[in-house]
Amino acid sequence: MLSASDNEMLTGVGKGTPMGALMRRYWLPVMPVEELGEPDSPPQRFRLLGEDLVLFRDSNGDVGVFAEACPHRGVSLFFGRNENAGLRCVYHGWKYDVSGQCVDMPNEPGESQFKHKMRAGAYRGAIHGGVVWAYLGEGDPPGLPEFEWALVPEDQRKFALAQRECNWMQGLEGDIDTSHLFFLHGRLNPDDPPSAGVWHDDKHPTLDVIPTKYGVVYGANREERHGLAYWRVTQFLFPVFTFFPANPDGTVPGHIWVPLDDGHTMVWTVAWHPAAPLSASTAMFGFGPGNHPAGELLPDAAGPLGRFRPRANRANDYLIDREMQREVNFTGIPSVFLQDQAVTESMGAVQNRASEHLGRSDAMIIQVRRRILDAARALLYDDVTPPCVENPEWYRVRSAIGTLPEGEPWHERMRDWLYAESDEKPPLDLAIVR
Ligand code: FES
Ligand SMILES: [Fe+2]
Repeated sequence: MLSASDNEMLTGVGKGTPMGALMRRYWLPVMPVEELGEPDSPPQRFRLLGEDLVLFRDSNGDVGVFAEACPHRGVSLFFGRNENAGLRCVYHGWKYDVSGQCVDMPNEPGESQFKHKMRAGAYRGAIHGGVVWAYLGEGDPPGLPEFEWALVPEDQRKFALAQRECNWMQGLEGDIDTSHLFFLHGRLNPDDPPSAGVWHDDKHPTLDVIPTKYGVVYGANREERHGLAYWRVTQFLFPVFTFFPANPDGTVPGHIWVPLDDGHTMVWTVAWHPAAPLSASTAMFGFGPGNHPAGELLPDAAGPLGRFRPRANRANDYLIDREMQREVNFTGIPSVFLQDQAVTESMGAVQNRASEHLGRSDAMIIQVRRRILDAARALLYDDVTPPCVENPEWYRVRSAIGTLPEGEPWHERMRDWLYAESDEKPPLDLAIVR
């Protein structure tokens, strides 16, 4: 449970809020680079941290990220012409380069110097790891995050985007909430095939939660037969990144919870293989041929929130099938992604955490909230730079899954896999919070 004021601090991302200030210290992903297209493709509009923006790729391939309204008289630059290394407003023809500088003002007299004084509200954009990133902070941006998925060849990674109609933290908390796995995503009969849902006899995992320099990691232990322990290891990395348990073949999946505004989130599903092209096994993350983790998407609509909207949504109860719920799986909702979508959206746009009741299985959620709130306060009151901003190499970690003899320390045994790409492995004796 959080106080109402902490809940507000945790969830509000607008300009001038503590969490908005924290988020504005990081590069955030906006869209896969294919969505933005080749240089001089039409501009795209989107919302990020509560700001309506227009994104374009100029003739040189550089990315421009502008406040949507033209500084002349407020017309949407989404209608603009992306031509000859700049975006030209269609109302009176003012043109801006990617830095926001006005470079042409054809409706003013030739001798006018006005254009030199005029700038569009521009942020920094970049292309990295197949993704278009935006930095909505002030001053020089930090280094781009060195995720392993951003560094491997293109055929070793995959992305899919879906919009979720709730606060970013609400979605993220689903990834670090391991005890829901064999309920929400479970099948009813252990003898049914895995396509019906997941199954484990042990429904109450024990959690080892370890604060790290880049975020928090946990190992969730479930009893297996024959003296074995089944471990699921999930990472949280500041400020919006999670890696949930890897596939046994080495494919690592994760989510990015990009706050569009306080009540809308763009969920990125990411999967990568450290060493080989992605195989059909990624189908387990909803990446089969022609597939999307959220199933079919609605056609694009106008407006900053008009893209990547699942057809199964609140308005149709996520296509719940009560017969399926009776006979096959726990929810009657057709896929893992939509099951998560349904429950997190059902809490309302921003859950009132002041009225919840947390148990021991919520230890990771409690710890991650604390780390994020502490970082926001440290920035607000003491101007402390948040984790990872000055160390983009800290992102080079993985999640894990595995079975070990009971009593073996998972963090020690899995350390070489979890931190294979990291120059600096965390010490073996990290303090575990239970
Ligand atoms: S409103 Fe954009 S040029 Fe006039
Ligand atoms: Fe889930």
